[in-house]
Amino acid sequence: MWWPLALILPVIRLYVIGVRVLVYQLFHKAFSLPVLPRQNGRVAIVTGGAKGMGYETSRHLASLGTHVVIAGNEEEEGLIAVKKLQKECGHRKVEFMYLDLASLKSVREFVERFKARGLPLHTLINNAGVMLVPERTTEDGFELHFGLNYLGHFLLTNLLLDLLRDSGKSGRCSRIVTVSSATHYGGRLDLNDLQGRSCYCSHGAYSQSKLALVLFTYHLHKQLSSRGDSVTANAVDPGMVDTDLYQNLCSLAQLLQKPVAKLLFRTPAEGASMTIYAAAVSELEGHGGLYLYNGETKISSASSYDKQLQEKLWTRSCALEYLTHQRLVGHVFPKQRGRVKQIRLKS
Ligand SMILES: NC(=O)c1ccc[n+]([C@@H]2O[C@H](COP(=O)([O-])OP(=O)(O)OC[C@H]3O[C@@H](n4cnc5c(N)ncnc54)[C@H](OP(=O)(O)O)[C@@H]3O)[C@@H](O)[C@H]2O)c1
Repeated sequence: MWWPLALILPVIRLYVIGVRVLVYQLFHKAFSLPVLPRQNGRVAIVTGGAKGMGYETSRHLASLGTHVVIAGNEEEEGLIAVKKLQKECGHRKVEFMYLDLASLKSVREFVERFKARGLPLHTLINNAGVMLVPERTTEDGFELHFGLNYLGHFLLTNLLLDLLRDSGKSGRCSRIVTVSSATHYGGRLDLNDLQGRSCYCSHGAYSQSKLALVLFTYHLHKQLSSRGDSVTANAVDPGMVDTDLYQNLCSLAQLLQKPVAKLLFRTPAEGASMTIYAAAVSELEGHGGLYLYNGETKISSASSYDKQLQEKLWTRSCALEYLTHQRLVGHVFPKQRGRVKQIRLKS
């Protein structure tokens, strides 16, 4: 594609989607959570759980009796959140563990430390994310949106799958909830240029990472259910929510965004309600492979249902993360062993 178009189109797509979501929010009330069952004895990890929607998710799950582990990359902020939540929920089963999703080493270390605790794991909330960051790479050299929002969660989920499987049981599955976004509708996944090297656009990179999360969720759920595992995976879309996620907008857009956010954006608690619902509501017991928005199952983008694309992304992600086939594929999904070996790293 002619490069100016490759730069402008993702921006236009993202803003058109944003306007559509705001119009929807203008005419529809925010989804309000039903009374949820107690979650005593259940353990949850919430990535990015110290602020924004992640904090609200941690707060609600902790108030239901869940043992919540906030996984984040800002220790001070995390410990402050823990103190607040312990006080508010009246129990001490809220804690912070360091996790930098922009470092695959950090993801592996986090999983090792978590597993060393000997705790079960019933709920994994893949919430953390960044948006519209100027071109930057993760510690491992991946484009930041792709590397942090998607690849970090891909590795985290896979390394925790054995624990999620062991902790779930029929009639009380473990749940993986991944926070995507309406921007995924504008996402284009270019398997030959996942890192946006030919022409970088932060809008396109964010949308792509959110589409990748939906593709990943569907493929993961399909594999889990075909194995008969007691684990479900769903993607949620929180709508447009007034959080720090918008801090990377250009100054003019920030000036416009602030008053609009006051009027039309959801609050972090409203935005988090879809995640909490997917994590705890009884009606979703055993149901996965869904895209949930404002209290309903929605159709996600056409490309997110493309099974070949799901599989190709999965295979490419395994190769990108240099996961040993024994560890990820042999351990989790034996059928893919042969294919992963043939992969060439193009990106
Ligand atoms: N706000 C919206 O309108 C909206 C709409 C659709 C989807 N979403 C999605 O909702 C999720 C939550 O976002 P939010 O709106 O609540 O924004 P937020 O308040 O900025 O929260 C993002 C969280 O991700 C954490 N994070 C960032 N980099 C990290 C890293 N390297 N390692 C671990 N954690 C990291 C942040 O921690 P630090 O800041 O301390 O690093 C923060 O806790 C994101 O996935 C976002 O894409 C948001």
